[in-house]
Amino acid sequence: MPIKVSKDGKQFHLQAGNTSYAFAIMHDRWPAHAYWGKRVNNVNCDDLIRTTERGFCPTPHGIDGRAISLDTLSHEYPAFGNSDFRSPAIQVKTPDGARICDLVYQGYELVKGKPALDGLPCLHAEDSDNAETLLLTLKDTQIGLKVVLSYTVYAEKSAIIRSAALYNEGGEPITLLRAMSLSLDLPDKDFELVHLYGAHVKERQIAVTPLRYGTQSVESRRGMSSHAHNPFIALKRPHTNEDQGDVYACNLVYSGSFLALAEVDTYDVTRVQMGINPFDFSWEMQPNASFQTPEAVMVYSDSGLNGMSATFHDLYRNRLGHSPWLKKERPIVINNWEATYFSFDETSLKALCDSCTGLGIELFVLDDGWFGKRNDDLRSLGDWVVNQEKLPGGLKTVAENAKNAGLQFGLWFEPEMISPDSDLYRAHPDWAIQVPTRPHSLSRMQCVLDLSREEVRDYVVDSVCKILDSAPISYVKWDANRHLTEVCSAALPAHRQQELWHRYVLGLYDVLERITSRHPEVLFESCSGGGGRFDPGMLYYMPQVWASDCSDAIERLRIQYGTSLCYPVSSMSAHVSVSPNHQVHRQTDFDTRGLVALLCQFGYELNIGALTDEEREQVKQQTALYKQTRHLIADGTLYRLRNPFDGNDFAWMLVSPDKREAVVVYALVLSDPQPCFSRLTLRGLDPNLTYRETNGGTWGGDELMNTGFTLPFLFGDFKARLWHFKAE
Ligand code: DGJ
Repeated sequence: MPIKVSKDGKQFHLQAGNTSYAFAIMHDRWPAHAYWGKRVNNVNCDDLIRTTERGFCPTPHGIDGRAISLDTLSHEYPAFGNSDFRSPAIQVKTPDGARICDLVYQGYELVKGKPALDGLPCLHAEDSDNAETLLLTLKDTQIGLKVVLSYTVYAEKSAIIRSAALYNEGGEPITLLRAMSLSLDLPDKDFELVHLYGAHVKERQIAVTPLRYGTQSVESRRGMSSHAHNPFIALKRPHTNEDQGDVYACNLVYSGSFLALAEVDTYDVTRVQMGINPFDFSWEMQPNASFQTPEAVMVYSDSGLNGMSATFHDLYRNRLGHSPWLKKERPIVINNWEATYFSFDETSLKALCDSCTGLGIELFVLDDGWFGKRNDDLRSLGDWVVNQEKLPGGLKTVAENAKNAGLQFGLWFEPEMISPDSDLYRAHPDWAIQVPTRPHSLSRMQCVLDLSREEVRDYVVDSVCKILDSAPISYVKWDANRHLTEVCSAALPAHRQQELWHRYVLGLYDVLERITSRHPEVLFESCSGGGGRFDPGMLYYMPQVWASDCSDAIERLRIQYGTSLCYPVSSMSAHVSVSPNHQVHRQTDFDTRGLVALLCQFGYELNIGALTDEEREQVKQQTALYKQTRHLIADGTLYRLRNPFDGNDFAWMLVSPDKREAVVVYALVLSDPQPCFSRLTLRGLDPNLTYRETNGGTWGGDELMNTGFTLPFLFGDFKARLWHFKAE
């Protein structure tokens, strides 16, 4: 089995894929981390877990001498209050005002497979995974707080999945002030921190900074994971590149405010933590109540960032969520947003659908503006009733017109929101998150619904399902265009208001669970002003995300490349939009726009009726090519070949699981008056196979991966090329 426990029950060694993770119970009290890294047969915990006397590092009660301090112990789940001065994994408050928590080891249990988490999205295991979960119980007997740390491993995947469950077994309430999903003490500080920062229309840019003494962190205080920082961090060795070297990465399966940190202490130990953001968080646990943290996915790779990404992609494409669409090829979309914005009616939508006839496009998505009095973004969110002035025949007619043009039908919603100018708000002003005695801040002229309330959740589920039942809708784009401010619920007492951040997320997950399980056949796409909530929590319910509101092909090179560090191409949707582009006004060839989107979930977001005959031909070619290669999006392995954050070009490729097929996309940003000859070497092929490129020419797999091939000179800015290789 992948988890080995020593005979005395004090040493634990988790082996998973290419990684080992080990810790031991020290002094019968504390689980102390020994090793995480490349897989080994044995770990000598006694040698690896070291403590020594150090000034100003207090000794815990019951320990003789001065050589042991929690301040220097590599604790698996350090608590605040009793001598570890570093960042705690847990902090509680008891009615006497004390904030002390002395967690002592009680015992362990091994469970086959992977238990689900109550109310939270999480990875699952299948029988073939030979997965096993270690449950480690710690307890503060004085206050009656029990903490169960969970570690799941899949025999063949280089990942450790961690979470913590907390139980109040005492007689008094316990208030949680902090409860992280993971804490990990790595024995040195020789790392660079990799994370994904960004903004609306500029998501998931890659930042790499050397670790320094003190704490470096990324977080969201916005109530959603957000465009600003993704709940992903990786520590890599300074020499680690795409293909070689060690990486230790963590990703939180959560869609709300989070914190991820790396703290280097004065003894060169690096503490890594990730979980719900403790900022403005508290949670009251009455006697017998429990609290479940989200889970964190920890991936180790000794084959660089590509190796790390391959493990995340494999897990998220195969073990995250239950949508039947998870592993399936997805349809080619035409979305009317950038084609019409709010200015459409039944006739113009029919014309848009008709203009797609014969082009290979498969699904029409009606975006924002079909409901209430939504002729602009100032009103009507919450009023999920079809606008009869624009669409007199209702959604059925729109769907019928799409069907007659050979297209399935999809629809946009923004169900978490409420416009002050809406019938819903006029009926239930208290359903908006706001402090009743203060004016509230608007963002895109809207407020957020209080999903901590059951009646609000019921309203959202009923109104969305009513629409889904009213017409043949096979796709939903679920948008969310603002973050949480003035965080206060009319339904919570004053001392529990700081619970609202997390209660909102739990409420959202409840709504998503109910809607997606009632409509399993629907393909759900998540969106939050583009990729503002691109996290595994949302991916659990919705297997793809509109990666960015920036549809410019050249900006997308970075956005998609950065996103791919953690998330598979099957989760990114990318569309061809008009040139000049609406967000950055850049002019780009139709061909380039197609090739940049082609290795993601593909579609169009422009007025197809306005295309020239030549462009229509290009659409036909693009959709035909996409249909030939989209199985690779579902199950191919991604290799990043040229990094657009480093230079002037970009390349990535997908290789089929049997290595008999590969598709490569290369893009040049700016043209060069004296271009150098540059060879593109590929990855992941079978060195012993011969590959034919569909436009002619054969190469050995070894040749493509070592000599590579010389890139053609591309003249003009923003050019791209694609190669499609098949084994002979
Ligand atoms: C933001 C989304 O990201 C866009 O694609 C579009 O759906 C608009 N919202 C509609 O309001």
